[in-house]
Amino acid sequence: MKTVLSGIRPTGNLHLGNYYGALINFLKMQEDKDNRCFFFIADLHAMTTHPDPKMMQENVRNILATYLACGLDPEKATIYIQSQIVEIVELELLFGPFVSIAELSKVVTFKEKAKQQPKNVNVGLFRYPVLMAADILAFNADYVPVGKDQEQHLEFTQHIASRFNNRFGVNYFKEPTPFIVKDQALVKIPGLDGSGKMGKSEGNCIYLVDDPQTIEKKVKGALTDNGPEGANTPKPEYIENLFTILKVVSTPEVVAHYDHLWNAGEQKWYGNLKKQLAEDIIKVTSPIRERINDIKNDNAYLRRVTQAGAAKARESAGKTLRDVREIMGLNYFA
Ligand code: TYM
Repeated sequence: MKTVLSGIRPTGNLHLGNYYGALINFLKMQEDKDNRCFFFIADLHAMTTHPDPKMMQENVRNILATYLACGLDPEKATIYIQSQIVEIVELELLFGPFVSIAELSKVVTFKEKAKQQPKNVNVGLFRYPVLMAADILAFNADYVPVGKDQEQHLEFTQHIASRFNNRFGVNYFKEPTPFIVKDQALVKIPGLDGSGKMGKSEGNCIYLVDDPQTIEKKVKGALTDNGPEGANTPKPEYIENLFTILKVVSTPEVVAHYDHLWNAGEQKWYGNLKKQLAEDIIKVTSPIRERINDIKNDNAYLRRVTQAGAAKARESAGKTLRDVREIMGLNYFA
């Protein structure tokens, strides 16, 4: 049995990057009978940016409904909300002494956030990778399906696991790998604005709940130019980005067709490319959007799923915490 675990922060609606970077792999992995899967909503991680309480309620509801609408199945995977598993919080505290201030200061996501919000460089942001390690090691996960942007965070979890083992001379924690499906590279879905990744805070997202007209409008507005300047020239980043999204939503034939047009140095086909791209994105997102809207208002169902998930998750994390306390010598008068 392999343990698979991953989470998503409830900081807004889920977008194509979350879907192709993470969710699609959650779905594949839950179908494998040899996997024990845990998928959660990382609400404690979201607290680092001071969300409004009403928004938190709304976002957690939306993400849970999105998980279920995409096909995550509470019968096959343990689905829970991070803050309902108090054992994780204690583990985070116990892991703090295994990482240095210098190391945490070098984390790219921390440096970026510190630049974005210089007046709010808080301790929660700083400890972000330690909390992630607690999330993962609480269940001793083997595989963590994530997008490429989480790779460095995962390395921290590996360090904490191996330092803990070395410090106490045990072989207790596994070092989890970010690899998803065999031999598949980590994915980065770009934004439609020319550079960088699709991200909630970048404002360049196509959301799973966007209606067809909105998707058409967003794709139409993607940055392009006059076309290739000759045959077999390299694609600039903003054009490569459109192809990257096309590759995940369309068929290989469609991709080959537009690749051929580019390589032949032809012009005036971007309009068709965008039309096709929007159409194929809508094909993926429409059924999900409709199900989200149904599930979202079923309070009793959402409560049932999260209560059952929390009970299962706490049982597992509780066992880890008891072991860790014992290994660390915190089991007094036993
Ligand atoms: P978050 O909420 O930023 O993103 C959730 C997942 O979506 C992936 N992702 C992308 N993948 C490809 N292209 C993109 N443009 C893109 N944007 C987002 C992310 O890689 C991620 O897999 N720290 C995590 C949440 C977390 C977690 C964990 C994950 C907390 N604890 C333990 C795994 C294990 C985060 O902020 O994800």
